[in-house]
Amino acid sequence: METRRPGLYIVSLPGDPGTGPLVAERLGARHVSVYSKTFPDGETYLRIPERPVAGADVVVVQSMYPEQDRRFFETLEALDILREHRGRVYLVLLYMAYARQDKVFLEGEPVSARVVLEAFSRYSLERIYVVEPHSAYIGGFPRVSVIDGVSPIVEEVYREIVAGGDRVYVVSPDQGGVERASRAAERLGASLLSFRKYRDRYTGEIRSEPPEGLERVSGAVAVVVDDIISTGGTIAETVAVLKRAGASRVYVLCTHCLFVRDALERVVASGVDRVFCGKTVRPPVTDPRVLYIDLSKKVSEALERDL
Ligand code: R5P
Repeated sequence: METRRPGLYIVSLPGDPGTGPLVAERLGARHVSVYSKTFPDGETYLRIPERPVAGADVVVVQSMYPEQDRRFFETLEALDILREHRGRVYLVLLYMAYARQDKVFLEGEPVSARVVLEAFSRYSLERIYVVEPHSAYIGGFPRVSVIDGVSPIVEEVYREIVAGGDRVYVVSPDQGGVERASRAAERLGASLLSFRKYRDRYTGEIRSEPPEGLERVSGAVAVVVDDIISTGGTIAETVAVLKRAGASRVYVLCTHCLFVRDALERVVASGVDRVFCGKTVRPPVTDPRVLYIDLSKKVSEALERDL
């Protein structure tokens, strides 16, 4: 590949699901892969075999799932290697782990999102980009920029559903996701409905209240928008309610699809028609109903604004 910008390096860490090389291609930068291994006792080893030339801009790309703690430590190791680098260093987190613990919910808890960002921030990074973080707390952190991880996916949904000329409702599974869902609703020219979700902070049990006006989805297409599919419980419950209310088709748009354990089976059993995911982690499942959308264009655009 031609390197149009010899002063720009994109370094992919082991969690990168393939976005780094695509970003490098788009920006005409040099792409570097790291060497990593696990020592017999479980410790992590990382080496950047090609050191960026002095003065170059370096963009480190990581996704912190699976094995969040390992991905966290690898990132610290990479930043330590680049400590002496004479040039600007940026970090792109395609998926930021621990983002959901963004406050103290029960006395005695840490703010894990802060633990992660403060640790990275010690390395005098020029900027940390986080793709579609769980909450506004992350974007409010010094030197953190948020990359919109909804709009590239919503374009795919748009192509699939708007052609049908159906009535469309965008649905947020909880109040916290309304801002995200409203971005999708605007693009799709759809009305927005939001469930209310309550979580028992001790047992983790979830209780969900359907939105007022739920009956309006009868005969319409529903698009459920959320940031994460972890165990699939939230999405499966939301989709099932929408199907019972008579939605003709239900699509799911989620930026980070982790599909933990039997999440895929749960989501499929809910009657979902298609799940559109951002490719922010290595695709954990393969299924004809699950589509992974590349976000390298959005990442490149965000970088280009600052580089
Ligand atoms: C929670 O507030 C998030 O936005 C997601 O709805 C949640 O993390 C999904 O988790 P699960 O798939 O385990 O229900």
